[in-house]
Amino acid sequence: MKSDIHVVTIDGPGGAGKGTISHRLAGFLGWHLLDSGALYRVTAYAASAAGLELDDEPAVAEVARSLDLKFVRLDSEEVDVLYQGQSISRSIRSEAGGRGASTVAALPAVRVALLERQREFAREPGLVADGRDMGTVVFPDAVAKFFLTASAEERAERRYKQLIQKGESVNLAALLRDIQSRDRRDSERAVSPLVPAEDAIVIDSTATPIAEVMQRVLVELAKKGIPAT
Ligand code: DC
Repeated sequence: MKSDIHVVTIDGPGGAGKGTISHRLAGFLGWHLLDSGALYRVTAYAASAAGLELDDEPAVAEVARSLDLKFVRLDSEEVDVLYQGQSISRSIRSEAGGRGASTVAALPAVRVALLERQREFAREPGLVADGRDMGTVVFPDAVAKFFLTASAEERAERRYKQLIQKGESVNLAALLRDIQSRDRRDSERAVSPLVPAEDAIVIDSTATPIAEVMQRVLVELAKKGIPAT
């Protein structure tokens, strides 16, 4: 699937700062953005709305193949997700939305159904792709690959602050348990497990502020001539 379009991949577990870095980077470069996690979240949402069990692989894969989905960029940090013309961002970004996404993401037929759809996001002038298997499976020829990580405790803390800010009532210990079990499910599944690509640059952001992570990413990209001068 060699393509001339420049793709930068940002993979890693949830809460490692991928979303923030991907948004900022796409804005800085003026490139397109693929939030691949949103595709899995919308698939789980649409399957539940259709009354399906989330482990009904053929039926959920069919839902994934025919998703009526649109991303609308609101600002440099936020994208609205429309399903059948309705905004479902709030619902799919909930903890339950994340659990559903992780369940359908473990189904091989669902991953196959979403593969081409993800590759279609690679358009001029370039793409920043955020996910778990962007560098390993979806865009193996990416010009630069990053794997962002942070300890589960730090990621739970970040998620806790985000949810409190949104006015949701949450329990830190329960969040940590949820993150650990989702990490396990994402890392141990047979297809496209969460692992860094062999040629990925791994950045641990546990004790590193997001601005510094962004700086590090930009330095690595500059070594590869991105952005072109
Ligand atoms: O990045 P996120 O939290 O929105 O992802 C939601 C779930 O989807 C997460 O449990 C892992 C899964 N996912 C995946 O398996 N592959 C991707 N490329 C992106 C997300």
